[in-house]
Amino acid sequence: MTSTAPLSDLCQLFYISRSLSTPQDVEQILSSARRRNSQRDVTGVLLLSGGHFAQLLEGPAAALHETMAAIDADTRHTAVTRLIEENTAQRRFKDWSMAFCEAPGADDLIEQLLAGPPVNPERARRVMEGIVAACHPMTSSG
Ligand SMILES: Cc1cc2nc3c(=O)[nH]c(=O)nc-3n(C[C@H](O)[C@H](O)[C@H](O)COP(=O)(O)O)c2cc1C
Repeated sequence: MTSTAPLSDLCQLFYISRSLSTPQDVEQILSSARRRNSQRDVTGVLLLSGGHFAQLLEGPAAALHETMAAIDADTRHTAVTRLIEENTAQRRFKDWSMAFCEAPGADDLIEQLLAGPPVNPERARRVMEGIVAACHPMTSSG
């Protein structure tokens, strides 16, 4: 042990993507995500909005790195675009191996973000907070 406290290893990562998934695919994604995330101490929420996904992942940096490598390579979605990747003091979904919510109203916004110029950090944060707020009261399994 040293006398200087280490920086927290807890990170959060928020990304958006275009879905190529059927409803059955989404069931399978959630099932394997929850199993893997429990093993890796990863928590978060997956939002499905029409033809798009948004996902917040929370956990140790190395675990998020492994998880994102699998997510990047998954052909059930495309245009995986990270909007936020940073250290964080606490988890927003600490009791959820992967919460899920459907919110069709965010579909156009996510497509605009994917099709437009790079999203600045302030906008990325507003989008993430809006999605977290939309999903929190609706989460019922995980
Ligand atoms: C939109 C989307 C979200 C996903 N979220 C996660 C996740 O949170 N954790 C995870 O391990 N895999 C996630 N996956 C699945 C991975 O891409 C991959 O299929 C899975 O980790 C493989 O697990 P398995 O080897 O046990 O089958 C996601 C895939 C998609 C398309």
